[in-house]
Amino acid sequence: MSLILGIETSCDDAGIAVYDAAQQRLLGHALYSQIKMHEQYGGVVPELASRSQLEKITGVLDLALERANVRLDQIDTIAVTNRPGLVGSLLVGICFAKGIAWAMDKKIIGIDHLEGHIFSSFLNSDGSTKQDVRFPFITLSASGGHTALYLVHDFGSYEIIGQTLDDAAGEAFDKIAKMLGFGYPGGATIERLARDVGFQDFFNYPRTKSTLDNIHFSFSGLKTAVLYDLVKKGVYDLHKGPRADAMSLEIQQQVASSLLVCIGDIFAKNVQLAFKRYPAITSLAFVGGVACNAYLRTRLQDLCNQQKKYFFAAPPAFCSDNGAMIAFVGSYKATQGRFSTLSLDVLRDG
Ligand code: KG4
Ligand code: ZN
Repeated sequence: MSLILGIETSCDDAGIAVYDAAQQRLLGHALYSQIKMHEQYGGVVPELASRSQLEKITGVLDLALERANVRLDQIDTIAVTNRPGLVGSLLVGICFAKGIAWAMDKKIIGIDHLEGHIFSSFLNSDGSTKQDVRFPFITLSASGGHTALYLVHDFGSYEIIGQTLDDAAGEAFDKIAKMLGFGYPGGATIERLARDVGFQDFFNYPRTKSTLDNIHFSFSGLKTAVLYDLVKKGVYDLHKGPRADAMSLEIQQQVASSLLVCIGDIFAKNVQLAFKRYPAITSLAFVGGVACNAYLRTRLQDLCNQQKKYFFAAPPAFCSDNGAMIAFVGSYKATQGRFSTLSLDVLRDG
């Protein structure tokens, strides 16, 4: 039950990792990222994503096993993302996992991608596992597909305490970067532009109005506010998109910086409300692709320092989609005996 192979193909990446449950360490991982391919389309093209995953997944497996220095026959259990995600992409991973499990008589466990993100904060960048995390804690998970706050009670036991009513935070970064004339994904570009002007708030974009009884996120109004601000500034045409003739680096930096500060304020406000609602909670974890953002990490770290809470985050390599988080969740589900079967049952979580 010790060696777990984690397979993640819910969107445009193909990540595979080997986690050793006995030693509680990640032995190796490999990732095939398709960012370059989708960049030109301004977003993920589902048909291209799954075809390309199908082509590459065997090579990703070979590389992960080589880095982990283990053979496939030494693996005990296969953990595979079963939801949510693009159906074609999910099918690539699930069918690949089922094929190996059937042919080599391995156990299989279906894993919820969001649970993978939540527990990615237990992994350290050197492959070791954090031993000092105390349950329960709060997790802010923000990526291109989702944004939510969770109250995490134990391994595999968690509840949503606030989520987005519309877009995800990463989607707001991606769409607004596109409005400014940049490619997909936009989060890292927005961060770079904002850093160049010292993370100042130039335009005071609208913040989500959460309350103690109704903690939520909403980014669609923010997106529209930025859009109309760009139209007003004469740098965006509602029919043709960004106006290259009028757009300037100064505008791009000021919009990016104001957007990042705004999202930082929204995150900090909602985390503050969550701490107020659950005063016994002593720590906060930050995960998901958006957690790569150093400014947002610092904002949340500062908030936790003020509130005397412990802050921890997934290492940048495991913020975006990856196989390591799926292997880690697979390891505790295997310990708990929560296996799936090779039937459709693998579509339910272990
Ligand atoms: O977790 P992830 O790889 O995929 C999903 O499950 O969605 O997250 C991708 C998202 C994208 O929206 C991307 O723009 C965002 O994470 N992202 C960032 C940064 N790096 C990636 N957002 C803000 N700042 C960053 N540095
Ligand atoms: Zn994800």
